[in-house]
Amino acid sequence: MKIEVGLERPERFRPAYPEEFELFSHFEVTAGIPTVLFAITTWKENGKPNVCFHAWSCFHGDRTAFFAVMGGLYQHTHTYANIQRDGCFCINFLPLSAYDRLVETIRCNDPETDEFAAGGFTLARAKTVCAPVIEEAFLQVECTLEEAKDLSGAGITAMVVGRVRHMAVEAAYAQGYARYGREGFMLLAPAPQDLVTGAPNASAIATVRIEKYD
Ligand SMILES: Cc1cc2nc3c(=O)[nH]c(=O)nc-3n(C[C@H](O)[C@H](O)[C@H](O)COP(=O)(O)O)c2cc1C
Repeated sequence: MKIEVGLERPERFRPAYPEEFELFSHFEVTAGIPTVLFAITTWKENGKPNVCFHAWSCFHGDRTAFFAVMGGLYQHTHTYANIQRDGCFCINFLPLSAYDRLVETIRCNDPETDEFAAGGFTLARAKTVCAPVIEEAFLQVECTLEEAKDLSGAGITAMVVGRVRHMAVEAAYAQGYARYGREGFMLLAPAPQDLVTGAPNASAIATVRIEKYD
């Protein structure tokens, strides 16, 4: 038996907080698909460094190029404006232990704030693009803006595609499967709704446990 969910949000779906379904599609919590969490780093217009905690993304390419496809970046963020203006950005992967500090950069978010200082992160400069990177990140990815597209056309989010120009990997993570486990990538499991009762659930933060090799 399948529980079917269509374009209309089922009446039994209760929001976790009043504006939840003004911000997110009910399909997000119907599916609860996990995505990797990372920080996008850019310069603000006034030269202060910006950090943006981000999830909705995937990474792929072909023999000729590799892309970071950030499927849903809110257009109201500093990050969206910064990327549009400068045409580049960096992506920083940090372990679970950095979660609270990344959230701090959301709390401290005015234009005047140095968000690296707010999160207690060390600023370094990207090698190939004009953007800051987080020194503590175990994987830093430098991108130029390839394309930005408002998929829904509602002016709320945009898919921002970055062409990867350079990567830097911390030596301690460079061998074997050190990029996974508690010290490696962290993922967001986005508020999986109870599809039977419609009750909300909290989002969960996960790490990768390897089950099998291919
Ligand atoms: C766990 C988590 C995941 C998030 N994922 C996204 C995301 O995928 N897209 C997005 O636009 N905002 C996301 N946010 C919200 C942004 O981090 C937040 O709007 C931030 O303040 C934007 O920063 P900026 O204005 O400095 O660019 C997420 C927040 C959290 C806590």
